[in-house]
Amino acid sequence: MNLIREGTLLAVENFSSSPIERRYSLLEVVSLLPMHYALGERPEGYPGFVVEAARNAARDWVEQEHEAMEEVTKIRCIAIPTNQEIRQNSNGTSLDVESNLPMVGARVYVLDTASTTAVLNYGIRHHQPRFEVGHLTRDSQVRVELVPEEMLRTHFAIFGFTGAGKSNLISTLIYKILQAYRSCTAERQRSVVKILVFDLMSEYATLLSDCLLELSNACIVALTEETLPGAVLTYMEAQPTDGNLQGLRREARRALVRTTLYPKALAAYRAKFDYFWHEALKYQSPRLKVWKEEVGDLGKLLRSLWQPRGGLGANESEIRRRVEAICGAFNGQPLTQETFQRAIAQIDNLESAQIQRNNQNVDLLSTTAAREAVREWKESLQEYAKSAILSRSLQPQFILSEQALLSDLDSQEKSSLYVFQSSDPDLLRRVAARIGEKMFERRRWSGRIEPLVLFLMDEADEFIPQKAEGSYAESRAIAMTLARRGRKFGLCLGIATQRVRYLDTSIMAQPHTYFVSKMPRKSDREAVAEAFGISEEMFRQTFKFQKGDWLLMSYDAVGMEAVPIPIHCEDANQRIKQFLDELEQKYRQRSAQHAPTS
Ligand SMILES: Nc1ncnc2c1ncn2[C@@H]1O[C@H](COP(=O)(O)OP(=O)(O)O)[C@@H](O)[C@H]1O
Ligand SMILES: [Mg+2]
Repeated sequence: MNLIREGTLLAVENFSSSPIERRYSLLEVVSLLPMHYALGERPEGYPGFVVEAARNAARDWVEQEHEAMEEVTKIRCIAIPTNQEIRQNSNGTSLDVESNLPMVGARVYVLDTASTTAVLNYGIRHHQPRFEVGHLTRDSQVRVELVPEEMLRTHFAIFGFTGAGKSNLISTLIYKILQAYRSCTAERQRSVVKILVFDLMSEYATLLSDCLLELSNACIVALTEETLPGAVLTYMEAQPTDGNLQGLRREARRALVRTTLYPKALAAYRAKFDYFWHEALKYQSPRLKVWKEEVGDLGKLLRSLWQPRGGLGANESEIRRRVEAICGAFNGQPLTQETFQRAIAQIDNLESAQIQRNNQNVDLLSTTAAREAVREWKESLQEYAKSAILSRSLQPQFILSEQALLSDLDSQEKSSLYVFQSSDPDLLRRVAARIGEKMFERRRWSGRIEPLVLFLMDEADEFIPQKAEGSYAESRAIAMTLARRGRKFGLCLGIATQRVRYLDTSIMAQPHTYFVSKMPRKSDREAVAEAFGISEEMFRQTFKFQKGDWLLMSYDAVGMEAVPIPIHCEDANQRIKQFLDELEQKYRQRSAQHAPTS
């Protein structure tokens, strides 16, 4: 029971074997059960006998530990084919596609650590960026490698109940992907990667704090003014000549330390995040920026937001004329709170306007469709007005413009990491959709397929739900486009969720790499089993999983195609703790006047 576990590899001689070449089919143990034949599978019958038999059975497990004296104790293993075989001949040992069935009744061998490692990582070529994603849960010596390029290009998904460690795993994966690309020395062009995280729960500033500082092209991107504490915006407005720049930076930093969300394991490290935010708020190269969409002038924006669905009734031509007049009035006008207020006031006028028809005063917006169209127009304008960029005159280095982002995503120079956060989830979905669409169009026009751009959506059911309207429809549409057609343009999708059955079902078949942890609901397990084409039985082992244990299945990214591998991944919180400790150390070594806590 201690030697053989789920994930153990077995070798059985198969029918292709011959005197000159031995061939062994490889199987993987997926479940095992201790059996005592005095009790049988279902202990029924006279209780007196059953209890007595059970007492003896328990003794047998201990007394016959090394050798079965009586044939009553057995461990029943269920193993599935891996479709691989080991070939042994005078030239040595090699691995190949399985050529025949295992011989029934033949002796079964258990692979040791070295052979298991070799088999599991067999398909991985050494010149490509790769990293160790974790180790086998049953044997920490067996390191399992993953090829990020394949994982990204063919999309990946992380499924598990709340607290299973999905966000934690995302942090680990991003850290390792960035590292793998950085340390890949092969002379290949494709040595950078671009990662966009849509962070609905605002948890990745802490979970990725090390990457955000270590990578020169990395930042947290706040979408709305309310996303950031007032002190931060004040600091972002400060002129370089401001004598109190350090004082403002301190205020901003403190506000961020107070308002950031920390996972429980990092709560005790809260004070040390002071150092992180101090670094992240460097005036010349900040790692915290505010998002600015490229919308040109207000006239242009008004035109782009006017999107009536269907006809507007009898007054249609008059409505369209007046809408165009409003847009025209704001041609060339800048986007400021003041111009927005004026535009909104004009739309208000439209809503209450009356016109003459057949010598009678009637409402201009005479149909529900017309009223809806104008109301939506106003609302989307109001949403824009919430963006931080409008009411503040931030210093340019604190702004991430859409143009700058898009051109960076096409640049081969450096890897990048952007963590998008917003106090308004609708806006986060809209911005994800907007960036996705623009990127897709750009790549389609240019025919560019590199570098890889990963769109990562944690809490994916909030981006790709089955029933979608409003901003949900927008984020779902782009996720579907990326999943179905992004591959040939180097646009990749990564999703994580606890609610598989709330996801749009057609998205499920797209990812080629899955990480699956505990999922208590049968319907969730069924959805994954069906999408990946495995039996639900495979998930039995996940019931025993601890935090950080994952069933890794991949068609492309691991050495063994489509064989579920139970692995354990390291705890990202430990990495962050070490990073913060080192950062603190660095500050202590510097002179006291530079220390942020002074
Ligand atoms: N690989 C791991 N090793 C140890 N503990 C982990 C691991 N992954 C997650 N945890 C623990 O579980 C907690 C919840 O993880 P989290 O990633 O937030 O789960 P989820 O996103 O699935 O809800 C973390 O704060 C951490 O303490
Ligand atoms: Mg999470």
